[in-house]
Amino acid sequence: MDFSLAQSTVTNSAADTLIIPLSAAKKLNDSAQALDENCAGLLSKLLKSGDLSSKLGDSRLLLTLPNLKALRVICIGMGDAPLSERDFIKFANAAASALKNSAAAKAEIFCSDIQLAARDSAWALQQFSQILADSEYRFTECKSKPEAAPKSPKVIFNAPKNAANQGALNVGKAIAEAMAFAKTLGNLPGNVATPSFLADQAKSLAKQHSLSIKVLDEDKMAELGMGSFLSVSAGSMEPAKLICLQYKGGDKKDAPHMLVGKGITFDTGGISLKPGADMDQMKFDMCGAASVLGTLQAVAQLKLPINLVAIIAAAENMPSGHATKPGDIVTAMNGTTIEILNTDAEGRLVLCDALTYGIKTYKPATVVDIATLTGACMMALGSVNSGLFTEDEELAAELLNAGLQSQDRVWRLPLEDDYQDSLDSNFADIANIGSRLAGATTAACFLSRFTKGQRWAHLDIAGTSWNTAGKQKGSNGRPVPLLVNYLLNKTAQ
Ligand code: BES
Ligand code: MN
Ligand code: ZN
Repeated sequence: MDFSLAQSTVTNSAADTLIIPLSAAKKLNDSAQALDENCAGLLSKLLKSGDLSSKLGDSRLLLTLPNLKALRVICIGMGDAPLSERDFIKFANAAASALKNSAAAKAEIFCSDIQLAARDSAWALQQFSQILADSEYRFTECKSKPEAAPKSPKVIFNAPKNAANQGALNVGKAIAEAMAFAKTLGNLPGNVATPSFLADQAKSLAKQHSLSIKVLDEDKMAELGMGSFLSVSAGSMEPAKLICLQYKGGDKKDAPHMLVGKGITFDTGGISLKPGADMDQMKFDMCGAASVLGTLQAVAQLKLPINLVAIIAAAENMPSGHATKPGDIVTAMNGTTIEILNTDAEGRLVLCDALTYGIKTYKPATVVDIATLTGACMMALGSVNSGLFTEDEELAAELLNAGLQSQDRVWRLPLEDDYQDSLDSNFADIANIGSRLAGATTAACFLSRFTKGQRWAHLDIAGTSWNTAGKQKGSNGRPVPLLVNYLLNKTAQ
C-alpha cells in the first residue's frame, strides 16, 4: 500500500474514493459538513433517516454523489469525540475493511477531523498506516492455486505534509511489513519452518540489511556446554540452531539491546507428549522467534540509531528413542544442573542457554526474551495482554508504556523470590517445572536463574501471538508492534 499526505478538500480531492468520518455530535465535522453543503444537504438527510450511521465503526458506501469528482464516498462512524486509543483502532479497522470491500484505486482519508483523547496526530497516522497495510496480509504460500491478490489502493491521508507525519507513516508501514514477515514464519507448517529454515531466513534478512550473523550448530553448542538446549532437540531429526544477528545502528561504544526469541518449530511435548486435539497449533511455538526477526527487520529498515542483537533459539521438540526422558538430568551452559521432570516444559530449556550465551557474548544493556512459554499465562490473561515479568522497574515501565502506545498490550505478573522454591529438585540444582500453581511465574523464575545481574524482562506471548479459531486462525504478528515501539522510544531517550 502506498501512503501519502495532502490537504485537499472534499471537492478538489484527486482521489476516486473519499473516506469521511461521521461524528455523533449534533454539529457535523468539517469534512462531512463540506460534503453536505456540496450535495445540497443530502448527507444530513441520510443521517437523519438512518441510512447513514455515526455509530463508531459503522461504515456505509455512497456512490456518485452530485457535484463530486470522486466516484464513491465511504462514511465511517466515529461515535462521540474524543476517541480513546481503542475507539480509534476500531475506527481504523472499519475504514480498512470498507476500503478492502470497495474497488477504490486511490482513497483520501479525511482523518484530520478525528479528535483523540490522549494521543497526537502522528500517533494516529502511525496506527492508521499500520492497520491499513496490515489489513492486506494474506497467507497463500501453501495453496496450490492462490487467488490473485486484490489490487492495492493508494491512500492519501488528509493531514499536513511534514516530517513528523511522514515519519509516522513510514513507521506504521514498516511495522506492518515486519508483522507480515512474522506472520508468514508463524503460519508456515512445521515441515517447512524447521530450525534450519529459520536460520536461512535469518541469513537472507542479514544479507538484505548488511547485518552480522552467526549460526551455531549442534556440535558448536555441545562444545559450549549447552546441555539444556540440546536436550530439547535430542529426539528430533531436525538439528537445532542458535541464531545470532547483530544490527549496528548506534554508537560503537554503546552496549546493544538484546531480544531473545523462543523458536520451537514444533512442540509435541516430547516424551511428555501433548494430547492430540489442537496439537497442530504447536507449529506456532516459534512465534517469539518470528517476532524477533520481524522487529529486527523493521529496526534495520527504519535505520534506528541503536545497537540491537537478536538471538533465536530454534529446535523441534519430538519424542523418539533418542529423546530426553522425564527424570533425565542435564547441565546448562552456566553449569546449573537441571532435572527435566516434564519434557513439555522445553521453552525454558532452550532459552536458558540462549540467554547465558547471549549475555556472555554481547554484554547487552538490556535483554527481553519473547516466548510462547506457558498455557498458564494464556489462562490468566487470555488473548488480550501478553505476560510481563521483570524485577527491573524501568524496563517494566518502558514495556508497559510501549504496550499502551502500540495497543499491543502487556500485563505485569509477579516474579518474586517466594516462588523460586517451587523449582527445588531432590536430585539436581533445579527442576524444569514447579508445582501446579503459578505456572507462568515459575517458568519466569526458571529463566531468572540465568539472567542474574542483567537488566532483563520476559514476555510470555502464549495467548496473544496467534488467533486460535475460524477464518482468523493464524499468526497475528504480535508482539512486533510492542517491540518496535519499545525500541523506537529508546532512540528518543
Ligand atoms: N508451548 C507450550 C506452551 C503453550 C501451550 C503455548 C498452549 C500456547 C498454547 C510450552 O512449551 C508448554 O508446553 N508448556 C507447558 C509447561 C508445563 C509442562 C509446566 C504448559 O504450559 O502446559
Ligand atoms: Mn511444551
Ligand atoms: Zn513449547
